[in-house]
Amino acid sequence: MKKRNDYLDLIVYQIYPRSFYDSNGDGIGDLNGIKQKIPYLKDLGVNAVWICPCYKSPNYDNGYDIADYRDIMDEFGTLDDWKTLAKELHANGIKIIMDLVVNHTSSEHYWFKEARKAKDNPYHDYYIWADKPLTDWTACFGGSAWEYNPATDEYYLHSFAVQQPDLNWENPKVRQECCDIVDFWADLGVDGFRCDVLDFISKDFANNKMNNGPRLHEYIKQLFGREKVKRLFTVGECQSDTESICSICGKDRNELKSVFQFEHIGLGRSDKYTPAPYSASQIKNVLVKWQNFTAEHDLLYILFTDNHDQPYFISRLGNDKELRYECATAYAGMFYLLKGIPFIYQGQEFGSANSRYEDINCFNDVETVNYYHENFGKKPQAKLIDEINYGSRDNTRRPLAWTKEKPAYGFTGATPWLKMPSRADEINLETDKSAYRSIIGFYKKILALRKSSDAVKYGTFKDLTSSDDCFVYERVNDGEKIIIAVNFEKANDLKLPPDLTEKNFELLLCNYDQTDGFSPAFAPYEIRVYRNR
Ligand code: NOJ
Repeated sequence: MKKRNDYLDLIVYQIYPRSFYDSNGDGIGDLNGIKQKIPYLKDLGVNAVWICPCYKSPNYDNGYDIADYRDIMDEFGTLDDWKTLAKELHANGIKIIMDLVVNHTSSEHYWFKEARKAKDNPYHDYYIWADKPLTDWTACFGGSAWEYNPATDEYYLHSFAVQQPDLNWENPKVRQECCDIVDFWADLGVDGFRCDVLDFISKDFANNKMNNGPRLHEYIKQLFGREKVKRLFTVGECQSDTESICSICGKDRNELKSVFQFEHIGLGRSDKYTPAPYSASQIKNVLVKWQNFTAEHDLLYILFTDNHDQPYFISRLGNDKELRYECATAYAGMFYLLKGIPFIYQGQEFGSANSRYEDINCFNDVETVNYYHENFGKKPQAKLIDEINYGSRDNTRRPLAWTKEKPAYGFTGATPWLKMPSRADEINLETDKSAYRSIIGFYKKILALRKSSDAVKYGTFKDLTSSDDCFVYERVNDGEKIIIAVNFEKANDLKLPPDLTEKNFELLLCNYDQTDGFSPAFAPYEIRVYRNR
């Protein structure tokens, strides 16, 4: 048998700390809040957490603008709280993955405060300066990517917000600083890093591109290829076409262990704020393509539907209305029984869905707020409000609704830092947990199956789908065969493999009550999981 990749045992839960759980009554989630919810994470069945940035930050981009890489944001607690959290997570068999944001710092980082003072300041060359904007790049959060700095009469580059100046990775001192940051957290016992916009660290000025520049591989190798940190699990937010994935994650590369692949996230919209027609079979096609590709090249694939940068997947590419339970459970099984590492975003496990707010003051995200102001008065107001409700990152950043109890649904005893999800009355953990058809109950079964089945964790993948309205696949390891059959939105007779009979298989899981688990008739978003006898 082929040697197994141990990282395939991971089941990662992504935490947006500001919105997870408030332990000290200030309306903001914190590290002790995460600690208090360790039993919840264990019970769900995850064995790793990725914590979005919790370092000191003025929060223009909620922590993705770091002012001190070696300390914790005041609202979240202290470094000692972090150490206690890490210890307790580890004691409970849960690994800890930190967010590494080294393309840019906060404009309030000491380096930048110094750098902007004078051209001969020792930190000046830590950032990217020019007498005039060198390119016509638009920053990812709107406006020019170049900002004027009066003290030096120059412009600095910021690929994201004005308050997020890009580091100059051409400077060997910057590279050393970033290695030291990685080592600092490695010494404190982190198990891995999710690397924010890592392909941006090498710019491609020659081809007028902000990312994927000529020195990218050299930089990543320096960061993670070193003996001391080779053990870490690293996953990059990077350009992820087939070629880049191989060149960054190939076994012989000594760079990253994996990268997120975003092709399915781009479906069903013409831009971030505008929906476009899609069909669930497109999602299936993307998944099949990447299952086959990663198998062929022996790469680790990340299985995910949601994160803090996207509206909820079931709201955008599924059904969050009358079929919310069916869709959430079908998609969970469809994704998390594939080959790869599951990443579950907080709230997804109980079917959280997008919110609806009419007032821009109910939004916080710098990207949304900038977009709103840039477009205000330029398009009908109702359209603009629809757009931000559809595409805002705040959809998944609203505090978690743990209970049914108004006004803050168990997230905090105070006023939450951002309005709770607008559907929290209907969608909260307490209600879901006690429902006969519980989404989290189904998630637990899927994760338990993943853990107990070598076919699901390590087995081969084969697509058995014969039509566009469903996804049928098998996972095989030694003698064990698991078949997953997912019907999409309309009731449908599926063409199942001919040997899929009661004699040969048992039905392990289904999101509908079954009388005959082998009938070809599938209800909307019905999923069935079988194992050979
Ligand atoms: C990607 C992160 O996921 C996002 O939340 C952040 O705003 C940008 N990178 C900038 O750091």
